[in-house]
Amino acid sequence: MILLDGKVASASVKEKLKTEVAKIISNKQRVPHLAAILVGNNGASETYVASKVKNCKEVGFQSTLIRFDNTVTENVLLNKIEALNNDESIDGILVQLPLPKHIQESTVIQAIHPEKDVDGFHPINAGKLVQGLPTIIPATPYGIMLLLEYYNISTKGKHAIIIGRSNIVGRPMSILLSSNLLYGNCTVTLCHSHTTNLKELCLQADIVVAALGKPAFVTADMVKQNAVVIDVGITRVDDATSKKGFKLKGDVLFDEVSKKASAITPVPGGVGLMTIAGLLKNTLAVYQKKMR
Ligand code: GUN
Repeated sequence: MILLDGKVASASVKEKLKTEVAKIISNKQRVPHLAAILVGNNGASETYVASKVKNCKEVGFQSTLIRFDNTVTENVLLNKIEALNNDESIDGILVQLPLPKHIQESTVIQAIHPEKDVDGFHPINAGKLVQGLPTIIPATPYGIMLLLEYYNISTKGKHAIIIGRSNIVGRPMSILLSSNLLYGNCTVTLCHSHTTNLKELCLQADIVVAALGKPAFVTADMVKQNAVVIDVGITRVDDATSKKGFKLKGDVLFDEVSKKASAITPVPGGVGLMTIAGLLKNTLAVYQKKMR
């Protein structure tokens, strides 16, 4: 069984990004600059955004964290996004999701200029992805593709099952794996909460991508021998024995599924780190496009 180690694969991506930044600096140009907006104080979002900022620093990017409290109005948020859109020194913008209920996420996503949308969530970028046009790929599916590439996992002609149809992970993942790409060309089944024969479908899959946010949902009896298993879940579960009071749990019951899988991602240390790698690559790409 191969452990698909996000630490190792993301370090390799980050090394290449550092080399690119060194070239930029030697050409006396400014470095890529990411603006991250965080609304409220959701613990998980705080951790993710802090990690994004830290990783920007590690590869030599500039970053600016903009915080609003939970009660911020949609208008104030939209005005800030407009200012960032018009700010020549900002290359990429991301608004950490989820947002408080009084703010319409789709309105916020559509306010970000598509060329600064490093999350690839804007309908223009999502539409290009569907049509196989050059675009910004959402960070988590992109990170998974980078992981498959790093470990040279062959996907051509394989049956991939994706559990979860979110715009952030499941749906773009289904498009990428079904696209005519080196690590694509799968036959894809996209499952969701209304799928009636999930276990039966999973048992047919050569590749399982679990992205539903339910800890330990995928058990060994649902997985075919030698399947490749990608666990996108990262739920905080109370745990009095841990210092933080919680542990991160994946959507896959790792201990038993890893005995059947030919390759599997751990949680933590798998897809989460690759998401950051995808975001960093997107930030460099939007910067390079602008500087051309
Ligand atoms: N919330 C969960 N995943 C993501 C992500 O990739 N980007 C943003 N902006 N918010 C998220």
